[in-house]
Amino acid sequence: SHPNGKMLRMIFFGKPGAGKGTLTARLVRKYDVISLSTGDLLRQHIAEKTEIGRIAEEIVAKGGLLPDELMLKMVSSKLDALRNNHWVLDGFPRTVGQGKLLDAHLRKQGTPLNLVVSLDVPDEAIIARISDRWVHLPSGRVYNLSYNRPRVDGLDDETGEPLTKRPDDNPEIFARRLRQFYTSTSPLLQYYSSLQTSRLHDPRAKLVSLRSSTSDEIWPLLEHNVRSVIPGLRERNEERR
Ligand code: AP5
Repeated sequence: SHPNGKMLRMIFFGKPGAGKGTLTARLVRKYDVISLSTGDLLRQHIAEKTEIGRIAEEIVAKGGLLPDELMLKMVSSKLDALRNNHWVLDGFPRTVGQGKLLDAHLRKQGTPLNLVVSLDVPDEAIIARISDRWVHLPSGRVYNLSYNRPRVDGLDDETGEPLTKRPDDNPEIFARRLRQFYTSTSPLLQYYSSLQTSRLHDPRAKLVSLRSSTSDEIWPLLEHNVRSVIPGLRERNEERR
């Protein structure tokens, strides 16, 4: 932990299938950063049949969104334990309501967001990817048959456990998730850019929009932005020395 330094407080949003999970995993593998994916958390709750899981199951299966307050509760209890860590949120906030709740929570903690990344990938590119996506449910690790294939087809690289398809990755539900993105999540960009000019909101988060159809082009840009916000960010292999 780093009790005194400036901590990475980053959110990552973008269309379903844009590559948020893939890029976040890369960031976490290389740097001393912890990620929290609300999609992964919900899928774990569903698998474990918790109270949240029972509420989430039907909503997620239909491509809808869970209530803002419930999502904040789920995320904030995790974030409170990560005060002394660099973190990135993948998939939260995804409504302006969630964005405001998160800001209020972090203001109370005294560690406001310092990096907001919008990942913008054309619809055609992501629709093609989804049918090839396979996931390892317990860890959230994501694979793709045409990009980032597992070493052994159908099995997770690290545990050897079976990979599964997400039930919400069928074409009809995916189309609904994409529409949900346009109506509920894309207004976040406007919300964060309005904070840039607001005198009430200081210090301001760096706001970047990365547009590309491949994660390989986006990765160096993402890395550059993270390092510019936290110049002293350590790589994991440096740590072990
Ligand atoms: P969540 O799991 O967050 O789904 P999502 O936002 O729809 O995002 P995805 O996980 O589909 O995509 P991704 O951007 O992470 O892409 P990935 O890296 O996998 O949420 C699921 C559901 O939970 C929601 O629908 C909602 O119901 C609920 N929920 C979650 N958060 C919520 C919240 N805050 N409020 C309310 N409800 C919430 O990449 C996609 C595929 O492409 C992979 O196969 C990958 O291998 C491949 N790929 C990646 N990069 C490339 C590349 N460069 N070239 C080719 N393929 C690539």
